[in-house]
Amino acid sequence: MAASLQLNCKPFAPLLLHSKPASKRVPRFSTVRCCAAAPSKSYNITLLSGDGIGPEVISVAKSALQLVASLEGIEFKFREVPVGGAALDLTGVPLPEETLSTAKDSDAVLLGAIGGYKWDNNEKHLKPETGLLQLRAGLKVFANLRPATVLPQLVDASTLKKDVAEGVDLMVVRELTGGIYFGKPRGFSTNENGEEIGFNTEVYSSHEIDRIARVAFETARKRSGKLCSVDKANVLEASMLWRKRVTALSSEYPDVELSHMYVDNAAMQLVRNPKQFDTIVTNNIFGDILSDEASMITGSIGMLPSASIGESGPGLFEPIHGSAPDIAGQDKANPLATVLSAAMLLRYGLGEEKAARRIEAAVLDTLDRGYRTGDIYSAGQKLVGCKEMGEQVMKSIDSKVATPLLLISPTAEERRGVRAEESFCFLSSKRVSITQLRDLYEYVPTDDPLSSARLLPRRVH
Ligand code: IPM
Ligand code: MG
Repeated sequence: MAASLQLNCKPFAPLLLHSKPASKRVPRFSTVRCCAAAPSKSYNITLLSGDGIGPEVISVAKSALQLVASLEGIEFKFREVPVGGAALDLTGVPLPEETLSTAKDSDAVLLGAIGGYKWDNNEKHLKPETGLLQLRAGLKVFANLRPATVLPQLVDASTLKKDVAEGVDLMVVRELTGGIYFGKPRGFSTNENGEEIGFNTEVYSSHEIDRIARVAFETARKRSGKLCSVDKANVLEASMLWRKRVTALSSEYPDVELSHMYVDNAAMQLVRNPKQFDTIVTNNIFGDILSDEASMITGSIGMLPSASIGESGPGLFEPIHGSAPDIAGQDKANPLATVLSAAMLLRYGLGEEKAARRIEAAVLDTLDRGYRTGDIYSAGQKLVGCKEMGEQVMKSIDSKVATPLLLISPTAEERRGVRAEESFCFLSSKRVSITQLRDLYEYVPTDDPLSSARLLPRRVH
């Protein structure tokens, strides 16, 4: 563990003290009380691990959430419910009612991935993907934010030349609950020649376009003020309306520079000169395709998080990658897209900006320290599996601890008769007793007027 921990002797509220029930308390002792772990806010988080690598990456993201929570005075109550193939196997449907109601009742939803070979030939209503689409529709999360940033540490992992990829930082705002994914009529039928046909409908109403366009204008405004709307208005009526409405709305955002591009050209420009883009807004299916393309610029789809938000209610946060059944259960998955999705959950879902930054900084630090899963590995780096990558992220979160973790003070507990040995604090999201803490750390006095001592690790834990 890289960081030493500060011990403060100044009063520091609010304080958290976990102790045994009053009947078991032994009076007279006591010196220690702990803080920084004092939860002042509590959130319910629904965890949907899903299929394939989902459970592996969600487990890492959950640990990261717990750890930053303990540092930020947040308490998370997690509920894990099945979705996708896992739900099909358990309940016969890809989105059980209980899963949707749990998700709706929570403050935010974190999803791993869904799908796998096993269910590939299922009828449409029994496909894992149908569960995901029902979940998005059920939560009414119409705006899907998919950032694609080329991190300096990973520029060599990009398939594009370094000078093309370096510095790319764009955001795809994808419409998520409309368009051809949901449009009716849809289905299978027979044409006049007696031939089997499958058909779908690309349809957008003006209010659907306006609300996603507003999210995009707001997003662009907070970024570099450039918005490119991608459509196929030279062919599709739904796109013609899209362009008309987006153009009309632009008068409300004079500070945002709006441009339009046909989707085929956008696909080409993304690999030709991705740096020309800042914020892209587009429909459901174009956003699906362009965000996968954008992810490749960054080096790996295993790095890209996403946030799906609606007008109200909990947001849905998920990596953009799939369930990767070929590597599932082998500890090979890259958990960073899910960890970064947890950061988006904190920022966009809960407004916990500081906690979000802690996670993002830790991911960068882990990459700086050379840790790489297979998908982003290059010679000279340290190749690790999913679990180890997660542990390194936890270490980085620990090492970036900027606020005091513990407070030693001899007053209130003494009066309440609580023994120091019965007190707990949170360390790396684990509850540890003060006795255990003393085994792990050595107290080193400092001259700092605010902190009487530093906790130096006795051994790596
Ligand atoms: C995505 C996925 C999903 C989509 C699938 C799994 C239904 O590709 O989130 O990009 O098409 O939206
Ligand atoms: Mg996709």
